[in-house]
Amino acid sequence: MSQLIFNPPVIAHRGASAYAPENTLVAFTKAAQLGIKWIEFDVMPAACEKPIIFHDDLLERTTNGKGDVQNYSYDYLATLDAGRWFDAKFSGEKIPSLQTVLLFLEVSGLNANVEIKGLANGGEKLVIRVLKEMQDFLAHTSSTILFSSFSIETLHLLRAHAPNCLLGLLLHEYNPDWEQLCESLRCVSVHVNNEIITQDFVQEIKGIGRNVLSYTVNDVERARELYAWGVDAVFSDVPDKIANAVSAKNLF
Ligand code: G3P
Ligand code: MG
Repeated sequence: MSQLIFNPPVIAHRGASAYAPENTLVAFTKAAQLGIKWIEFDVMPAACEKPIIFHDDLLERTTNGKGDVQNYSYDYLATLDAGRWFDAKFSGEKIPSLQTVLLFLEVSGLNANVEIKGLANGGEKLVIRVLKEMQDFLAHTSSTILFSSFSIETLHLLRAHAPNCLLGLLLHEYNPDWEQLCESLRCVSVHVNNEIITQDFVQEIKGIGRNVLSYTVNDVERARELYAWGVDAVFSDVPDKIANAVSAKNLF
């Protein structure tokens, strides 16, 4: 089982999202400026089926739009302000398309965890579209690209359509079938909610040769505890603080 490399052992959750509006290019750029090597972002389809980078079902919290994101084509979504809610200095920041973020990854050389939203309709169109848009990038990039989803159906679709992709099993709650799922999906990693992770569970996952990631960890002492348990990396909104604290302790 291939092992992923996390150095520093931090993934910028939705970009450096404590310092810049989540899931935007400025948040991803900030992560790179902080010396972080991995970013995580969320992918869902616009009404026109174009994959976009966005977390919530609704536009209200992080844009000046209203309603269900997936009801709008990207032509409209691209006109919204996805930065001002965070701070006036980010006014004009846009909801990125997946294609735009791929260009950013090419230029920055960052590694990425691409989290794909599970959809009620099964999500096969989204998975096919994402993989099509990423096909050329995946063929030549030296970045590590790790796909994940809370949806087991989506993970199966990713494995079926991209037999060689790196997959991570994302667990919000404990799933007693996790080991069998890791085997059948050939997952390289398990991404466990910080609220449910235990030392024993970390050891079990490590015992079958998978990387363990945990989300979302913004407390330095908690990060140190998780690393001591064997967690390989944490998703954090303050990735620099976690990285600096670990670095100060010479843990990597
Ligand atoms: O992939 C880790 C983390 O991003 C999962 O939770 O809701 O922030 O996408 P969420
Ligand atoms: Mg996410």
